[in-house]
Amino acid sequence: MSLLLRPLVFDDRHVMEPVEQAAHQHPWSVALLAQSFSERNISVGAWREEQLLGYFIADTILDESTLLNICVHPCHQGRGVGGELLHYYFEQCALRHIKYHYLEVRASNQAAQALYARYGYVVSGRRRDYYPTPCGYEDAILMQLTK
Ligand SMILES: CC(C)(COP(=O)(O)OP(=O)(O)OC[C@H]1O[C@@H](n2cnc3c(N)ncnc32)[C@H](O)[C@@H]1OP(=O)(O)O)[C@@H](O)C(=O)NCCC(=O)NCCS
Repeated sequence: MSLLLRPLVFDDRHVMEPVEQAAHQHPWSVALLAQSFSERNISVGAWREEQLLGYFIADTILDESTLLNICVHPCHQGRGVGGELLHYYFEQCALRHIKYHYLEVRASNQAAQALYARYGYVVSGRRRDYYPTPCGYEDAILMQLTK
C-alpha cells in the first residue's frame, strides 16, 4: 500500500501525539503540536491505510523556511518515510518560492543529521549546550540549504 502525504489539520494533533512520543526522546506536548497549524506552518503527515506513520512541521516566512520537527514512528523507520517527507517538504517550499532552508538538530542525533545531509543540508554552525538531556545539556548543530 503506497504512502499518502497530506497536510495535517488541528484535529490530527491527538493522532500525532503517540507518534511524537514514540519517535522522540524529548517529545513535544500536545499543546505545542497544537501550535503547528498557523498560516506560516507547513505541517504534513505520511499515512498508510489511515495510519499516521510520521510527519513534518515547518515554519515559513518570505523566502525562508525552518524545519521544526520531523519524525517517523520507530516501527516504520528505515523504510524511506523520512526521505519522502523531506522530498514533499521541498516540493511545498518550491511552490511558495522558498529558497533558504534552516534547521537545528541535537549533536547526538546521527540518524537525523545523515538524513539532512543526504538531502543537501550542510552544517552552518553549532550552539553550545543548547538542548537539555537527562544528564546535562548537548550542543545543537545548525544546518542550512539554499535551493
Ligand atoms: C530521522 C528520521 C525522521 C528518519 O526517518 P526514516 O524514515 O527512518 O528515514 P529514511 O528511511 O527515509 O532514511 C533516509 C536517509 O536518512 C538517513 N538515515 C535514516 N536513519 C538513519 C540511521 N539510523 N542511521 C544513519 N542514517 C540514517 C540515511 O541517509 C537514509 O538514507 P539511506 O537509507 O539511503 O542510507 C527518524 O529516524 C526519526 O523519526 N527519528 C526520531 C525523531 C528525530 O530525531 N527527528 C529529527 C529531529 S527533529
